[in-house]
Amino acid sequence: MKRTKINDLLKSTDFGSTVCVKGWVRTRRSGKAVSFIALNDGSTIKNVQIVADAAVFDSELLKQITTGSCLSVIGKMVESPGSGQSVEVQAEQIEILGTCAEDYPMQKKGQSFEYMRTHAHMRLRTNTFGAVFRIRHNLAYAIHKYFHEHGFFYFHTPIITASDCEGAGQMFQVTTQNLYTLKKDEEGKIDYSDDFFGKPTSLTVSGQLEGELGATALGAIYTFGPTFRAENSNTPRHLAEFWMIEPEIAFYDIHDNMDLAEDFIKYCVKWALEHCADDLEFLNKMIDKSLLERLHFVVEHDFVRLTYTEGIQILEEAVANGHKFEFPVHWGTDLASEHERYLVEEHFKRPVILTDYPKEIKAFYMKMNEDGKTVRAMDVLFPQIGEIIGGSEREESYDKLKARIDELQIPMKDMWWYLDTRRFGTCPHSGFGLGFERLVLFVTGMQNIRDVIPFPRTPKTADF
Ligand code: 4AD
Ligand code: MG
Repeated sequence: MKRTKINDLLKSTDFGSTVCVKGWVRTRRSGKAVSFIALNDGSTIKNVQIVADAAVFDSELLKQITTGSCLSVIGKMVESPGSGQSVEVQAEQIEILGTCAEDYPMQKKGQSFEYMRTHAHMRLRTNTFGAVFRIRHNLAYAIHKYFHEHGFFYFHTPIITASDCEGAGQMFQVTTQNLYTLKKDEEGKIDYSDDFFGKPTSLTVSGQLEGELGATALGAIYTFGPTFRAENSNTPRHLAEFWMIEPEIAFYDIHDNMDLAEDFIKYCVKWALEHCADDLEFLNKMIDKSLLERLHFVVEHDFVRLTYTEGIQILEEAVANGHKFEFPVHWGTDLASEHERYLVEEHFKRPVILTDYPKEIKAFYMKMNEDGKTVRAMDVLFPQIGEIIGGSEREESYDKLKARIDELQIPMKDMWWYLDTRRFGTCPHSGFGLGFERLVLFVTGMQNIRDVIPFPRTPKTADF
């Protein structure tokens, strides 16, 4: 018999019909006459109640129906007398597809997130992680839909690369060399001629540079892929492997870029509100009571736009008025998450787009302002998260970009192809990168980025 997904079953009003449901047991309550089994198949946060009559089923079979076991149930779909449920299934046949060993790690309710991270292979079966990963999927879908509908092309950039887009030297090397017998030259430098690519290569930190090649041919592209950063940041906002969405658009200046970022992110949040209502309601109840309010707030309000210099003035005033930050703040410093969150959560009380950062703390490709000190960067700062998007207008002048590359001593052998965009019909263009997990973090109200990607990679952890 064809299986009905629980999500579909719970919406159905075909009472009296015979259905087949399959899923994992969340709980079983047994009375003398009947057992009530809460079954979940992942299609929705909601369980369906299976009612098993003790007169119909062998007590040995019922005993094996424990939390975590997997069942196939055929029975009659009836209107549920219990509150909160519309439908239940009066079981006629129960097949145990898989019993569950006693040491099932998700047995108990209310386990800590730390504990569940050490059992990330099984935490997917919990209500919270089910909700998070259904929302994650929906956001990914919304992102593709948004860009497709706005005339952007999904452009695949390489994962293995020989260039460092962000120039921060936080790359994971890729090699097939035997590390015990590394070939070195007379100066003791590694000889890559025998290595797979014949030169040093790494996992990409960003698809932007290749994205610019796409944008200056196709007009508007976006990437959506995994990126890797070997930064030793053990924070609730950093992963060593994360997914990034990078739109890149020809003929856009920084204002167009900000408009796009704001419209895009609001679309994603709205999509989640409209399509993940059950999961969001659950998270709002269990994880963060102000989640829904925050999501609606972001959708309904304009983001504040101001320059880095103005932002620093506000932060310096806060310090003068007695506000204590862990890290010092003055013109020229990179903002820490606490500074970003002060601007967003305490000062403006809404999302902020900061622009025109000092060139020293931003990447080489950003367009230089007239002042010669700041670049046309933009960071979108969000409540609870801090930086969710980083982007800029790009330097389109060959001479200025070349000068910057030389100044930073970036090897030309890695960059000639990138500079060619500025030699062959250069144009103003802009783009940004949205950290996908930071978006999922924001939309779910979860506190730690390790809990919004199925199998997180962070310093000293690469399990599962
Ligand atoms: O600000 P970032 O480093 O910008 C770039 O990589 C540009 N090439 C993007 C572009 O203009 N096309 O990173 C962009 C975003 C950040 O705002 C943040 O949301 C996320 O990527 N991000 C991380 N997310 C999780 N873990 C990390 N270690 C992250 N580093 C950056
Ligand atoms: Mg950034």
